[in-house]
Amino acid sequence: MESTSDPKRNLIIVSNRLPLSIKRVDGTFQSSLSSGGLVTSLSGLCKSTQFQWFGWPGLEVKDSQDRADVEKSLGEHHAVPIFLDSDLAHEHYNGFSNRILWPILHYQSGVIFDDGPWQAYRRVNELFANSIADVAESGTLIWVHDYHLMLLPELLRNRLHEKGKHCAIGFSLHTPFPAGDFWRNLPVRKHLIEGLLSSDLIGFHTDEYKQNFIDTCASLLGARTEIPNQIQYRNRLVCTDKFIVGIDPQKFTDTLQKPEVRARIKSLEERYKGVKVIVGVDRLDHIKGLTQKLKGFDAFLDDNHDLRNKVVLIQVAVPSREDVKEYQELETEISTIAGKINGKHATPEGTPLLYMHRSVPFTELAALYSIADICLLTSTRDGMNLVSFEYVACQAQRHGVLVLSEFAGAATFMCDGSIPFHPANTTEMSEAITKALNLDAGERKRKYEYLRDFVNKNTRQDIECAPKTACIVLTGSLQREMGG
Ligand code: ADP
Ligand code: G6P
Repeated sequence: MESTSDPKRNLIIVSNRLPLSIKRVDGTFQSSLSSGGLVTSLSGLCKSTQFQWFGWPGLEVKDSQDRADVEKSLGEHHAVPIFLDSDLAHEHYNGFSNRILWPILHYQSGVIFDDGPWQAYRRVNELFANSIADVAESGTLIWVHDYHLMLLPELLRNRLHEKGKHCAIGFSLHTPFPAGDFWRNLPVRKHLIEGLLSSDLIGFHTDEYKQNFIDTCASLLGARTEIPNQIQYRNRLVCTDKFIVGIDPQKFTDTLQKPEVRARIKSLEERYKGVKVIVGVDRLDHIKGLTQKLKGFDAFLDDNHDLRNKVVLIQVAVPSREDVKEYQELETEISTIAGKINGKHATPEGTPLLYMHRSVPFTELAALYSIADICLLTSTRDGMNLVSFEYVACQAQRHGVLVLSEFAGAATFMCDGSIPFHPANTTEMSEAITKALNLDAGERKRKYEYLRDFVNKNTRQDIECAPKTACIVLTGSLQREMGG
């Protein structure tokens, strides 16, 4: 284990998804960068902080030599795999985390609870706790991430205690935490909250999510919450705070300077000469409001017949969680609506919608962000939404306009620099697009500068600060626990 800035204090990061996902191709293992905001926001840490990152490698590996190969290849990137058999991983990841917990965290109703996936969720959290408790040394800061591992702080603290080890535990939730009554829809609501309350510090993306969590602790468990940002429960004091996650804007600036990316931008600009480009980049997930986006764009085209050949929406829908039935159904629904929109609005000169259901390389993503006059993000709920940050990072020349759903966590901070709207209101969305197209250069510049300052201020350096801040806060509780 390597040390952080304090040589005596080590850092372990834990998340379900590792920064690299492993695939078996022709009998060998290949790794590729994982997608998603959690990995994006934490990847910057590699540049300045030393740590080990524990997580599930994304596939079952049974053979011991294969396991050693995977461990070696991930080890080069600080990553340590926790191997799970495929049925268990499936029930934990698809069954409970993504079919039950994710929808509840994002205010989706109609979720059906099932005990099998819940037991798998518990078991996987136990396996994570066992693996980490074996290797962590006393004094290590263990920083757990996201909804797949909400039981882990409690299980881990128990295992560490059995082994006579004392570690501080931080937890960051990268999704919203729902208000009041909604969390009660989940029959195992108390277990998950109690699991989290064995952390020393729990981080959220916004004050709203943090306060929802605190209120739930009070109403569900009778925890004492009179002191701001503190929860007292069963003789433990747990701190909560807001940590704004961000991106590495310099990575985009550098990419845009590469000759091949400049050439790509030039060719796209020529292709779309005289046409206003709207870009959307989303994992194909209900929470991204893709159905709503297409309906809103349809309404915009209905309202603006004269703009049919003058505006194009390029929508990248990154395949996600494809083993979950609801995600498969969503893909069918989206491609049907996309076909209908083009059927209705296409002319011999072209189609107004380019729907790409695949992952695109990073350089292509940066080029698309750069040539777009508008970025349209329509999340029905979203922990933060880092695509909005990435678009801003690529707009130094054009000062493009961010049209951002009021339900993305990012809207809490970016409202003044963007055009907010309600994603279920197609009229409002159509008007927001029209407004974005008509903003004068001065107003675009003002909005862009506001967003640029926010994105540049809340970079990976701040996420680096998060564990350091956590260290400071946690040192106190660690010392108390150790009797120091
Ligand atoms: P979420 O975490 O819900 O997916 P975010 O907008 O916060 O939503 O983060 C999505 C992240 O995934 C962004 O950083 C985006 O650049 C990244 N991403 C998008 N497409 C790809 C891709 N093809 N490969 C890797 N990362 C991608
Ligand atoms: C969101 C979640 C992350 C998750 C990411 C991608 O950002 O908060 O925990 O990793 O989506 O989803 P996936 O299911 O592919 O890991």
